[in-house]
Amino acid sequence: MEEKALWSGRFDKAMSQDTLEFTSSLGTDVALAFYDIMGSLAHVRMLKSCKILPAKDADTIIDGLKKIVDDIENGTFEVNPDLEDIHTNIEHRLTDMIGPDGGRLHTGRSRNDQVATDFRMYMRDMTLDAVNALDNLIDSLITISEKNGDTILPGYTHMQHAQPVTLSQHMLAHAFRFDRDGERFLDAYSRMNRCPLGAAALAGTTYPIDRDMTSQALGFSGPTNNSMDTVSDRDFVAEILFCASLTAVHISSLAEELVLWSSQEFGFVEMDEAYSTGSSIMPQKKNPDVAELARGMTGSVVGSLMSMLVTLKGLPFTYNRDLQEDKRPAMEAMYTVTQCAMMMASAAKTMKINKKRMKESAKAGFMNATDLADYLVVKGIPFREAHGIVGAAVKYCVKENKDLESLTLDELRGFSASIDDDVFEILPLRKCVERRNSYGGTSSVSTNLQRDHLMNNLTIREEFVYYQTEVIEDCWDRLLK
Ligand code: ARG
Repeated sequence: MEEKALWSGRFDKAMSQDTLEFTSSLGTDVALAFYDIMGSLAHVRMLKSCKILPAKDADTIIDGLKKIVDDIENGTFEVNPDLEDIHTNIEHRLTDMIGPDGGRLHTGRSRNDQVATDFRMYMRDMTLDAVNALDNLIDSLITISEKNGDTILPGYTHMQHAQPVTLSQHMLAHAFRFDRDGERFLDAYSRMNRCPLGAAALAGTTYPIDRDMTSQALGFSGPTNNSMDTVSDRDFVAEILFCASLTAVHISSLAEELVLWSSQEFGFVEMDEAYSTGSSIMPQKKNPDVAELARGMTGSVVGSLMSMLVTLKGLPFTYNRDLQEDKRPAMEAMYTVTQCAMMMASAAKTMKINKKRMKESAKAGFMNATDLADYLVVKGIPFREAHGIVGAAVKYCVKENKDLESLTLDELRGFSASIDDDVFEILPLRKCVERRNSYGGTSSVSTNLQRDHLMNNLTIREEFVYYQTEVIEDCWDRLLK
């Protein structure tokens, strides 16, 4: 190992090869290269403006950093595995290019505030990507809902037929979960969007730096408030990973349903061939692997949240090398959850819906029993008593192998003299669905409102994501000018 570490001054010996390999973070933080340079450009421009660095030196550094960005974009930037992380790699490259003046870049800065800044910028982008993918998934659920206002299927509790619902309502139920997930991500985004740069190693710096200036240059909403908190704070990672975990749990619930619904027993949906796989031995098979994998990947996403929390537990102030373990789980989880959302959006959008099968299934299980009880209540019978009357009618139907709708008026009146001809207007499943027009219910009046609500939220999020993306790109353009 020939390369010198940034900190080798007080050492007589070089680091052993196995220590280098054990402590290196290059395998993950190479993904931070671009953000690292943006952070450095903001820092050096600030040093120049505050007259901490002479303009000439600052300009040489700026030119050098810009060349490294070109190299990264052209794919010609080579990382040196003998240097322990991306920050060291970039600083070395700069010094190779412009000479010892490159060493002035680190004035008033530490890798502790540097890495915290880089990672926040990285996680900002990953969060915006995840929200875009989620919104796309919500969009496909809304489309299915729009087309299936009249598709009736069983609504379940305890996995037993409970009351009829529309597929429209059912898909919107999933969509509202994802809507909250999107909102939660952006909520955490706003808390994460504060700039650590200037906290230095842990206690701030003696140089007359301008933290507002660097914060603004990097598109943050302001600098963080306490230097010690700043270099040890990975709340933003844990919080975003919680958002990702709950999203993954919600995705797995949708995925599980599609797997179940594609089974021969249900036959409610058929996944498109483009989103299915076959079996190497059973020629007849068509498997819903996309949904199965999305369900399965939840494990690693939730695992990354656990990993981050346990890494943070019991850490003393301030920076500890343990914190380096934040990147891999977070990077993997954000990638996974975004991919899952994208794939589930496509799989759901292209699946075939078997409306007939859903309807058939909805006919079983006396799902209009509550409606009959409600009917008796309107006729003046107390609900508890009505419940008992309908229970007796259901028992009779089970014995006679009939359903409530097919009983004659005489048969029905055998259970209660309050039942009249108009009962046949409330028993059809379509009527059961449409009469549930309370706010949030399964009627089409309600599902139309729900879709409006979701679309409104989508627009608000789209605008937020668009605005943030513009702000960030604007910063990059300015820094690279
Ligand atoms: N690779 C390190 C990390 O990701 C960078 C910060 C190193 N700081 C230090 N004091 N050794 O956390």
